[in-house]
Amino acid sequence: MPARPPPPENVRPRPKGEALAVLKVLAHDGADSTPVVLTSGEVGERIGVSQQAADRYLVALERKGLITRALGQRRQRLQLTPAAMAVLRTEYHSYRRIFEGPSRLSFTGKVASGLGEGRYYLSQPGYLVQFSERLGYTPYPGTLNVRLTAEALRKSSLVSDWSGLRIDGFQASGRTFGGATCFAARMNGRACHLIHPDRTHYKDVVEFVAADCLRDKLHLKDGDSVTIDLEES
Ligand code: CDP
Repeated sequence: MPARPPPPENVRPRPKGEALAVLKVLAHDGADSTPVVLTSGEVGERIGVSQQAADRYLVALERKGLITRALGQRRQRLQLTPAAMAVLRTEYHSYRRIFEGPSRLSFTGKVASGLGEGRYYLSQPGYLVQFSERLGYTPYPGTLNVRLTAEALRKSSLVSDWSGLRIDGFQASGRTFGGATCFAARMNGRACHLIHPDRTHYKDVVEFVAADCLRDKLHLKDGDSVTIDLEES
C-alpha cells in the first residue's frame, strides 16, 4: 500500500434525493453515452419540482463534476460524466442487494510471491488498529498474493461495486500510507479478506489478509492453485 492522495471514497460526491433523481432521468434518456437536450422545466417536471429548483440541481451537479452542460438559447445539452455513472451503479447495486440478496463470486488463481512489502505495511500501528476494529482480528503481518488469469481478474474486479470494509489512509513518520478496501473471502474454505489497496503496482494479482499465515495453514507454495469464494456482506 504505497503512498497515495486521499482515497477517492472520501471525495466522491454522493448526491441524494432530487439530485439523484435528476441523474436517473438523464440516464433513462441515454445521457451516459450522448448528450440529451432538455430544459430545466422539463427536468423539473420529470422529478416533480419547479423549473427553478431543477436548475439549482443541475448547477450543483455540474459543479460536482457529475454532469456537463452546454447551454443553448433555452434548452441545454446535458451529459452524465463517468463519476455520475459510478454513483448510479452504487445505487443500482444497493437495490440489487435488497431484491436479490448478496452477490457471490468464485475464481481460482495461483499463489505468488511479491516484493515483501506486505509485512512492512501490515506492521504499521495505523493499519493494525483499523484491521482489528473493522475485520475483527489482527492480521498476520503480510499479504498473500494470488495471480489471476484475465478471466478471473475480470470476475474479481466485480467486488469494487460491493461496499466492503474501509481501511483509511494515514500519515505517520513523515510519510503517507494509502487506504484500502477489504472484502470477506474464503481461500480453499479458510476465512480471510481480499484487500484492494487504493493504489497498487500489481495488475494481475489480488492480495489477501488473514488472522493466520495462509501458506502454513493451507500448505501453500508459489504456483499452487487456490479457490477464492467471496460473498457480499
Ligand atoms: O510480498 P509478499 O507477498 O511476498 O510478502 P509479504 O506480504 O510481506 O508476506 C510475507 C509472507 O507471508 C509471504 O510469503 C506471503 O505469501 C505470506 N502470507 C501468508 O501466508 N498469509 C497471510 N495471511 C499473509 C502473508
